[in-house]
Amino acid sequence: MNQKITVRTLRELKARGEKILMLTAYDACTAAWAEAAGVPTILVGDSMGNTVLGYSNTLPVTLEESLLHTSAVRRGAPNAFVIGDMPFMSYQISIEEAVRNAGRYLKECGADAVKLEGGRDMLPVIERLVTVGIPVVGHIGLLPQSVLKDGGYRLHGKAAAEAKALISDAKALEKAGVCMMVLEGVPRELAADITFQVATPTIGIGAGAGTDGQVQVIADLLGLNAGGFTPKHAKRYAELGETAIAAIRQYVAEVTHGDFPDNAHSSSNQPKS
Ligand code: KIV
Repeated sequence: MNQKITVRTLRELKARGEKILMLTAYDACTAAWAEAAGVPTILVGDSMGNTVLGYSNTLPVTLEESLLHTSAVRRGAPNAFVIGDMPFMSYQISIEEAVRNAGRYLKECGADAVKLEGGRDMLPVIERLVTVGIPVVGHIGLLPQSVLKDGGYRLHGKAAAEAKALISDAKALEKAGVCMMVLEGVPRELAADITFQVATPTIGIGAGAGTDGQVQVIADLLGLNAGGFTPKHAKRYAELGETAIAAIRQYVAEVTHGDFPDNAHSSSNQPKS
């Protein structure tokens, strides 16, 4: 990928009916892997709470943690469209605070956009961000930051009233000017219907194949959390966690038995014979 991905590229992809790929990444190394593999959009998700910071959900992630990881991803993937995922309580307190915090992703990290969770209830914030020139990715359906309010994670939009509300949310987000919207944990028929009804690119996770694009959490995709929980919607394409544990075990054994470092991995002060 030698060309910088912009909001214009995303609109063109949707217009051409080409799938929009998105993957999460939280550091320069995995961001570089994603970009090398041809992933045009990288989400520095607050899923970093579960996947790399060791929290049990996304709520404890701080703005400073998110900014630090977004900067690292930017450095690793200079051409990708990098999205900073605004953590819980970084945009809900006031519009002013939301603008100040969102602006830091662009000014300090070089991000291309921010993402925040919520539908019509978040419109005043989203409208203000867009007005001041901050590209926003919406996120509706299952909202991980509302896990305590919802009492867990579940499919959203199964009941007719909830489906209708989600369609209204999607239309409102589009009107507010979001550049993309994530549809998480919604029935595939509803996700396809929303995608048909809005011109804004939709990115699904746990929402079937009918959206304009897909996003996955990199730890699920690569099996980084060996033996850990994998959600129903995720597919493991590799088991890097298991490969890593096996490699580290071998290192432990070789050092323990005095096989490493050998002469090939150390230097001598003796002249070469
Ligand atoms: O934080 C995250 O990784 C996300 C995706 C699941 C969409 O919000």
